[in-house]
Amino acid sequence: MQPFDIVIRNGTIVTATDTTRADVAIAGGTIAAIGRGLESGKREIDASGKYVMPGGIDAHAHIEQLTASGLLNSDNFESATKSAALGGTTTVLCFAAQHVGMSLTKVVEDYHALAQRGAVIDYAFHMILADPREEVLRDELPPLIEAGHSSLKVFMTYDRLRVDDMQLLDVLMAARENKALVLVHAENHGMITWLSKRLLAKGYTAPRYHAVSHPRLGEVEAFTRLIAFAEFIDQPIMIYHVSSAEGAAVIRAARGRGLKVFAETCPQYLFLTKNDLDKSGIEGAKWMCSPPVREPADQETLWQALSLGDLQLVSSDHAPYAFNEKGKVMAGTSANFKQIPNGMPGLQARLPLLFDAMVSNGRFGAQKFVEWTSTAPAQIYGLAPRKGAIAVGADADIALWDPDKRVTFSDVDVVDGAGYTPYVGRTVRGWPVAVLRRGEVIAENGSCVAKPGSGEFLPRKAGAAAEPLGRSSPEFDPGRNFGARLY
Ligand code: URP
Ligand code: ZN
Ligand code: ZN
Repeated sequence: MQPFDIVIRNGTIVTATDTTRADVAIAGGTIAAIGRGLESGKREIDASGKYVMPGGIDAHAHIEQLTASGLLNSDNFESATKSAALGGTTTVLCFAAQHVGMSLTKVVEDYHALAQRGAVIDYAFHMILADPREEVLRDELPPLIEAGHSSLKVFMTYDRLRVDDMQLLDVLMAARENKALVLVHAENHGMITWLSKRLLAKGYTAPRYHAVSHPRLGEVEAFTRLIAFAEFIDQPIMIYHVSSAEGAAVIRAARGRGLKVFAETCPQYLFLTKNDLDKSGIEGAKWMCSPPVREPADQETLWQALSLGDLQLVSSDHAPYAFNEKGKVMAGTSANFKQIPNGMPGLQARLPLLFDAMVSNGRFGAQKFVEWTSTAPAQIYGLAPRKGAIAVGADADIALWDPDKRVTFSDVDVVDGAGYTPYVGRTVRGWPVAVLRRGEVIAENGSCVAKPGSGEFLPRKAGAAAEPLGRSSPEFDPGRNFGARLY
């Protein structure tokens, strides 16, 4: 009897710490053995000349979500996760988004139902809190965190979603009490609103002025305030989609002081610049996201910040809107930049773009590629050791990369709901030619064969990265205030 379901032979296995030539055997959806000369499996996959890497983990994706613009994203769990699988990603962390007045429990239930119906890769939810009223934090949040949703997201900008300073403190405190990680879209709302008004009043309405309207100092101010709040409460945070050199410097300083500040950037900030928005008419809307893409010097600084460990991972911030009246052009072709929903697709392109830059072009190499796109998100978000590594006992989530395959991004190949790619015309070298999720081949030769709903929910334990440092500010620290907790 053959003990293994699948044996992947002769490939180069890459993890965040090692690169080795060996075979990988899979049984019952997990990795059963790694070595040479393993017994044969029911299916044999020849990986000669290929890299055998952990499937990607995309820790920031908006899927079938009610968004800041009041629209739903232009895809559903099936289209989004199929696009992810075709790009080598086998796990996604997306959002259950509460808007003002909603019950968080109901929101989470509804997103579960959508994912159960459509997802083809494994998934977990970050809970967006737009209305952190007392009863939500007191009654709804603890059981939801206990049920495996151990990360909360808040926005410091966007009219519909943003929390004010008091609410942000409330959320940080509730997270601390329940050992959840807090993820933040941190930009200064006042600076964006003030500058946007002035630009529009002078007739600067085209998409390219979106990039002007989100000043880099808005990132600096919001990061600085957020970090001060997090230090005050002694609550670990993740700063989302760092876009500017100045923002990265704020994070470096905080981490240098030993604070538990994690941070990510996204491919758009490493591969696109504000010139990409500079198209005629409404076309530039395709490249509009918040924070906006910036300058080549910012790209360079963000790569350096990753290599220094100031930023730990690269997520897509997949937020697709079709280029039509149900998406980017919801307010018509002469809309001003404030009337255009923010976000771009990225689940499929994230890994090929990074593989091309890091492995094919040799910048930081294959192990760092695995670390920033799979191992670090697994560790920070409580998915390790099940996810994020090629190791005995881990889920057999594996991408086989052909380092020689060249692909030119084109709108006709897009499978997510955006219907366009911001990387159109760009050629990458290196492509995931086969993708396995829990030992099942779900994507091969450019087609995704997984059944909608075959992705599984991944409950995550509270704690891990969210553990406080144990050194909140003296005024706040329980025990220092006359020996009793006053707050
Ligand atoms: O422009 C973006 N990033 N849209 C998605 C929502 C968010 O801000 O993360
Ligand atoms: Zn955001
Ligand atoms: Zn986002």
